[in-house]
Amino acid sequence: MRILSGVQPTGKLHLGNYFGAIQQHLQLQDEPGNECFYFIADYHALTTVQDPSRLREYVQEVALTYLAMGLDPKRTVFYRQSDVPEVTELTWLLATVTGMGLIERAHSYKDKIGRGLKPSLGLFYYPVLMAADILIVKGELVPVGQDQVQHLEMAQDMAGYFNGTYGKEVLVRPEWRLSESPKVPGTDGAKMSKSYDNTISIFAEGKALKKSVMGIVTKPIDLGQPLPTKDDNVLGLYRLFANEVEIEEMEAEYRQGSIGYGEAKKRLLAQIDALFAPARQRRRELQQQPSLVEDVLQEGARRARAMARQTIEECREACGLNRSV
Ligand code: TRP
Repeated sequence: MRILSGVQPTGKLHLGNYFGAIQQHLQLQDEPGNECFYFIADYHALTTVQDPSRLREYVQEVALTYLAMGLDPKRTVFYRQSDVPEVTELTWLLATVTGMGLIERAHSYKDKIGRGLKPSLGLFYYPVLMAADILIVKGELVPVGQDQVQHLEMAQDMAGYFNGTYGKEVLVRPEWRLSESPKVPGTDGAKMSKSYDNTISIFAEGKALKKSVMGIVTKPIDLGQPLPTKDDNVLGLYRLFANEVEIEEMEAEYRQGSIGYGEAKKRLLAQIDALFAPARQRRRELQQQPSLVEDVLQEGARRARAMARQTIEECREACGLNRSV
C-alpha cells in the first residue's frame, strides 16, 4: 500500500501534532507492506508564512522532528514539496477539470478566513494543490484528521474528473483513513493548537518544559481533597503518555485526594521526558550535521520526482499536451 501524507511547516511541532499525526505516520512506516511518502508542504505553507527565513526554519523543524522521532529515510520517501515542482503542473491540470462549485464548498477555506487569514487565491486553491500532492505519486491511502476529510473527498472527485474527461484511468483514486487522534488538551484545556497559544512543544526540555507543564490550568482544589478524573487537563495529558497501570494508580490517587496538582504535574513531566529523551538526543546529533538532513531531503525528492515525472507524462499524454506519438 502506498501511504502519503503532508505536514505543513508552520512552526514548532507540539504534543498535539505528535499524538494527532506523527505517531500514526511512524506506525504506518513500520507496518510491513507499506511504502510511505511523507512530505513537508512548503508550497502550502506559503498561504500563511511569507517570510523566507521563517519558512526555512520551519521546514528544517519538520525535517528534524520526523528524523529524530524515527522516520527512516531508507524505507520512507521523505521530501520537500517544492523539490517536486511537477505537483504545481498537475494542480493546473486538475483545476481545468474541476468545477468552481466543488472548491467553493470547502469549509477549511471559510474557517481560515473566519480566523482572519488573508483570502488569497492560493488559500482558495489549496484543495487542488493538496489533491495534486496525492495524485502525483499515486498515493493509495492517506491518513487524515477529521479536518482534512473533505479535502480528501475532493481529491477523489478530482481524480475522477480527470480520468472521466480524458477517458483514461491515469490517476489513482486515493482512499483516506481517519487517524484516531485522541483529544490532546492544551495547557488551557482547549484543544492543543498553535493558534490558541496553548501548546507544549515536543522538544521543549529543562526549564522551558517545566514552565509549560506547571502552567497547565487546573481547578482550585485544596490539597488533600479529591481531584476530578473527568475533563482534567493534567490527567488528560498523562493518559496519553503513561501505561495502563500508571493511569489507574494516578486515577485512584485523584479519587482519594492523596495527590495534589503539583505532584501530578511532576509525574506528567517525568513521562514526557521519558518518551522524548531519545528523540531529543537524536535531534541534537542531527543538528550537528545539517548536510545530512539536506541529503535525506534531496534523496527523497529524487525518488518522489521520478514518480511525479512519470505521472505528469501520462497526464500530458492524456490531455494532448505533448507531441503526438
Ligand atoms: N492540508 C494538510 C494539513 O493542513 C497538509 C497536507 C498538504 C496534506 N497536502 C497533503 C495532507 C496531502 C495529506 C495529503 O494538515
